[in-house]
Amino acid sequence: MTRIAGTAGLAVLTMLIIQLAFSRTNARPVQHAPAAASQKPNPYEGQQQARQAGAKLYQRECAACHGADAHGLGKALPLASPEVRQASPGTLFWVLRNGSIYRGMPSFSHLPDEQRWQIVTYLKSL
Ligand code: HEC
Repeated sequence: MTRIAGTAGLAVLTMLIIQLAFSRTNARPVQHAPAAASQKPNPYEGQQQARQAGAKLYQRECAACHGADAHGLGKALPLASPEVRQASPGTLFWVLRNGSIYRGMPSFSHLPDEQRWQIVTYLKSL
């Protein structure tokens, strides 16, 4: 009897923990970036060459999920969207570095900073 109660208690606890974890991660990835990260300036802001490099990287790394035109595909959110337009370059840079494991956005921390800023420059031009 105590054993059954113990197992049931454990199951309830596990469910509570899972719920807590998910409610914390329910926000869109751009809402996860800490304030300090979001204030980081883009060293290539508005630069045409960086935008072009970023567009190429986007097609290689992102288009499979977010669509060639950045309007989204399947589960991946559109990037030509008000949320992305309003997000600061530092926020987007943070999302690219950290991804969002709960929502299926991979981390691009393997790319050099320079390439991630180029992608941000491209996203900001959409
Ligand atoms: C394996 C598929 C996949 C790839 C590849 C991918 N993403 Fe994502 N991305 C996602 C998913 C899934 C989400 C989250 C959707 C959600 O939160 O509902 C996401 C979310 C985002 C967000 C947050 C949007 C928001 O409104 O919060 C940004 C920005 C983003 N991706 C940019 C990129 C960029 C730039 C690349 C290429 C470097 C990329 N992603 C590659 C699947 C992908």
